Amino acid sequence: MKNLVIWGGRPLRGEVRCDGAKNAALPVLAGALLMENATIYEVPDLADVRTMVELLRAVGADVKQDRDTIYVSSPGPLMYEAPYDLVRKMRASFLVMGPLLVRCGKASIPLPGGCAIGQRPVDLHLKGFQAMGAHISIEKGYVHASAPKLHGAQIYLDVPSVGATENIMMAACLAHGETVIDNAAQEPEVVDLANFLNSAGARIKGAGTPRIRIDGVKELRDTAYTIIPDRIEAATYLIAGAITQGNVTVDNVIPLHLKSVLAKLHECGLEVTEWNKSIEISASCRAKPVKIKTLPYPGFPTDVQAPFMSLLSLGEGTSIISETVFENRFAHAEELRRMGAKIRIEGSNAVIEGVPQLTGATVQATDLRAGAALCLAALAAQGVSYITGLEHLERGYANFASKLRDLGARIAVFDEAIEQASGFAP
Ligand code: EPZ
Repeated sequence: MKNLVIWGGRPLRGEVRCDGAKNAALPVLAGALLMENATIYEVPDLADVRTMVELLRAVGADVKQDRDTIYVSSPGPLMYEAPYDLVRKMRASFLVMGPLLVRCGKASIPLPGGCAIGQRPVDLHLKGFQAMGAHISIEKGYVHASAPKLHGAQIYLDVPSVGATENIMMAACLAHGETVIDNAAQEPEVVDLANFLNSAGARIKGAGTPRIRIDGVKELRDTAYTIIPDRIEAATYLIAGAITQGNVTVDNVIPLHLKSVLAKLHECGLEVTEWNKSIEISASCRAKPVKIKTLPYPGFPTDVQAPFMSLLSLGEGTSIISETVFENRFAHAEELRRMGAKIRIEGSNAVIEGVPQLTGATVQATDLRAGAALCLAALAAQGVSYITGLEHLERGYANFASKLRDLGARIAVFDEAIEQASGFAP
């Protein structure tokens, strides 16, 4: 298992460029199964993207890659079953269900199961497919869906689920008639998927609002599409600049996608300047206390909750973070406490009493955003930190260590062997 070692205490300064959004690339790659050929630009170089490419190949698509461009070609018949090991490795694999159901008339996908941050059910995905005429059965941990031809339906999502909105939208593109999704997720990544599908001739209206209308068409044509920048990666590097009291400019970002995060950084008393496709943060003091509640977009994103907790751990006064999206997304609090943070968890609330200093420690990443949060804390802490679980980080942050090093961070990647060897030193 690869780990990170970070020597903290140095302000970060400089510019960092964000890659394409992981959470847009994954649904768009799944959606590429809906047409014969799709070219996708600005795909980030991430473990999760490599898993999705493996999955597309496993169901019969021909996938080629040239740096950040991916070519998906699937003119012929596809396999309707997704391999267990890939779905278990990455729950976003479940996003191929809609496209396979449409292309093959059936789909068998392993239940993705829970993960470190929660149960992660898929009942709303299945509710949508059933409303569109699919027969659904669950046997031995697999979801089996079959539908010779899907028809349009009125679907209300009890929760504005990003994945369910995306899966249903993909299936509805080629269903017979109109589908309306109410209480749909409004995330920019949902809009990006809709724009990708519309560039191939789909007829989707209202993406980015709570009501999405999809008029089914007979087929989608070949297309080429560029993924939006990763707003969560951008937020992570902005917080890296803030927590180290440095000055960081993030390039290739759409400020509109980060309104809630920028508003909170302003409330923390930090100097944030927005340009057309970049944002600069300058911090010369500790963050002021704030209250944060994670919510579906356009609310404060749950994926920025952990990095922001690290920032507030070194802030002034007492802050409160309410996590309303996932039921178990505070695991990083325990690890931050090992660095001297004063955080107590009360149900879905984290009460953070800011301290003037954190101390380097050995800490463990449990999911990619928690891993990023621990790195940010280590960058500001006094002394050396060892962060285990780098494989989590590599799922969502391309070239994380080198991007931080370019900002002046003292950070290195090392594997266990070196760690053990250092333990044998005389
Ligand atoms: C997407 O996950 C993102 N992943 C997550 O990012 C992100 O945290 C999440 O949306 C919320 O914004 C990708 O896009 C690949 P949801 P998703 O369905 O689609 C409940 C990261 O760090 N729910 O919107 O799985 C669910 O339990 C990852 O990049 C149901 O009840 O999230 C959760 O409480 C982590 N039934 C809430 O909805 C369902 O059928 C939001 O989940 C589906 C979801």
